[in-house]
Parts: sequence; C-alpha cells; structure tokens
Amino acid sequence: MKSVVIQRFGGPEVLEVCDQPIPHPGPGDVLIKVQATSLNYADVKARMGQYHNAGQPPFTPGLDVMGIVTARGEAVTTIEIGQRVVAFPLHGAHSQYALADAALTYALPDSVDAHAAAAFPTVAVTSYELLHSVARLQSGETVLIHAAAGGIGTTALQLAQLAGAGRVIATVGSEEKRAIAKQFGADEVINYRTESFADCVLDMTNGHGVDVILDSVAGEILAQGLRCLARFGRLVVFGNASGQPGMVSSYDLHGSCRSVLGYSMGTTRRYRPDALRPSVDAALRLLADGKLRMHIGATFALSDTADAHRLLESRTSVGKILLIP
Ligand SMILES: NC(=O)c1ccc[n+]([C@@H]2O[C@H](COP(=O)([O-])OP(=O)(O)OC[C@H]3O[C@@H](n4cnc5c(N)ncnc54)[C@H](OP(=O)(O)O)[C@@H]3O)[C@@H](O)[C@H]2O)c1
Repeated sequence: MKSVVIQRFGGPEVLEVCDQPIPHPGPGDVLIKVQATSLNYADVKARMGQYHNAGQPPFTPGLDVMGIVTARGEAVTTIEIGQRVVAFPLHGAHSQYALADAALTYALPDSVDAHAAAAFPTVAVTSYELLHSVARLQSGETVLIHAAAGGIGTTALQLAQLAGAGRVIATVGSEEKRAIAKQFGADEVINYRTESFADCVLDMTNGHGVDVILDSVAGEILAQGLRCLARFGRLVVFGNASGQPGMVSSYDLHGSCRSVLGYSMGTTRRYRPDALRPSVDAALRLLADGKLRMHIGATFALSDTADAHRLLESRTSVGKILLIP
C-alpha cells in the first residue's frame, strides 16, 4: 500500500509517499481500506515535531479516515467486514489502508457521502466536545470563535448556532475569509490581523464580553481573549497555531468567576476512547440530517500531500482539505 511517511521533522519536503506492507488488525482492531482522509493542523504540527500526541519519525500522519472495513480482529463484534465507516485510526490515516480500534470506529449512515465523512471526524467531534462537554454552552450565550473560516471554525460556527447560542462572533485572518465565516453561521466577523478583536467584541457586547471563547491560536490571542471574556465566562484553549503559549494570571480568574479550560481530542481518544461516543453520535446525526455541512475547500491526491500541507500552513485555506489515496 502507498502511505505518506514523515522521514524526519521539518518542512513539507520531508513528506514522502512510500510502499509499506498492509498491516494486520490486532484483536480489537479493524482494517479499513481508505476511500478518503483529511488534513488537520495537527498533521502540520506533527511534521514539525510540535504535536504532543505524535511519535518520532519515521511515521505516517493522519487523524481521520473514511472507508470500508476489509478485516477485523477476533474480539471485534460491533463492526462488520464490508461496513462503511469513519474512524480515528491508531496509526496514520494518510495511507491506502489504516488500522483503527473498533471503539474508535463508527458505522456511517448511507446518506453521508464519502468526502463529507472524511472531513468530519476530528473537526466535528472536537467542535462538539468543545462547545458541549468542555465549555458547557448554555442557550442564549455569546460565543467567540477564532480561525473561524478553517476546518474547526466552519464546523464550530454551525454547532454553536445549533446549540442555541445567542450570538456567534468570528475572527478570521483575511478579508477573503469573512464571507465563509458568515456563510457558516457567524453573526459578526472581525479580521483579527487588522483590528483589535477584544475592542471590537467589547463594543459589540456593550462592554459585557462573550461567555465562551474557542481559542486554537494561544499566545497574544489568549491574552486578548481574557480582556473580552465576560464574568462566569469560559475560555477553552485547544491549540497553539501561533506557536506561542498563552499566559494566564490567577488574578484573571477567581474574582470574575471565569475559567480557562484545556482540551485535546488526541489525548481523549487515547485515554478515554469510550467518552467520545456520545459526541460522535450526536455530531454524526446532525451530519446525516443535513443540519451540519462540511466545507471542503480543496482536494489533493495522496501523492500531493506536501502541497496540501503548504496550503494549510499558508493561512489561506478555508474549510477542510481532503486527501484521496
Ligand atoms: N485540541 C484538539 O483536540 C484539536 C483538534 C483539532 C484541531 N485543533 C486545533 O484547532 C486549530 C484549527 O485546526 P484545523 O485543522 O481546523 O486548521 P484550520 O483552522 O483549517 O487552519 C489553521 C488556521 O489557523 C489560523 N491561524 C492563526 N494563527 C496562525 C498562525 N500563526 N499560523 C498559521 N495559522 C494560524 C489560520 O486562520 P486565520 O488566518 O483565519 O487566523 C489558519 O487558517 C489548530 O490550531 C489545531 O491545532 C485542536
């Protein structure tokens, strides 16, 4: 089978497409023939040696898979051979075949097409977990979502509206992305590279601030977020696209009853795989019912994975980037 391999940490040039043996499923695993997979920012971080859940090179990246089960371990009873599934694979998804734990493999409703399914797992389930399990968004609350035209952003905007948010404010890094954020559910959009989003949010909310912030950028963006987080507000930090840690003082929290929370899908799937199922089921139902739309901004052949990484890093991509083996 052909697989993308990160031979050493570095730029997109370290990605190679190699021939590897098709793996055999362990007792609790399924083997999936990949029909489509997608690129996440974590794959870029993994390639650079900056993703906490990735291994040491050489390894195959990839967190999402859609395909057909072709073999299963002797202990698997929940998934059939020939079944159409989405999964969070054990090893890299950027390959023609991938192994997944049956506990992290989910039957795919017939109504969901292959490409939407491949775009779905990481971003939709993470967004669902962030809003419901971590931030505990209440109906009517105001939400601020950074990097809102990206993979997480376009799903989190929709899921926030579906959860009954009172107002959803988006930040984007370019003027071109404003329309995408609006299209996927933003009530207001701020270009946070040209204006102070904290000042804009305070203006928009009459000084009150927002109840929930989804922050995947960290660094200075996190510090600015605390300026516009309302009393009793929750700021969830779940990435550091800026490459910088965000600094929090305890003075920012206790007097105002505000919380800063962390979340990692990679850690959750590794240590609490069963905990994900309610969010997967709920998000998959929304996708199957047509209430959640996956925005696919670009599609690449597996052999062009390096170009897909360049696009995601360029900060010009919108929605999800698919890879087709
Ligand atoms: N914790 C978890 O479980 C989890 C799961 C999935 C994703 N994430 C995180 O969520 C974020 C979004 O992931 P994604 O796969 O959907 O990617 P994405 O949003 O499609 O692409 C990343 C976006 O980050 C924004 N960004 C802000 N500062 C940046 C910088 N200094 N360099 C590059 N990009 C920057 C850019 O949008 P703008 O130009 O509009 O700012 C860029 O388009 C990533 O930080 C990722 O690590 C975390």
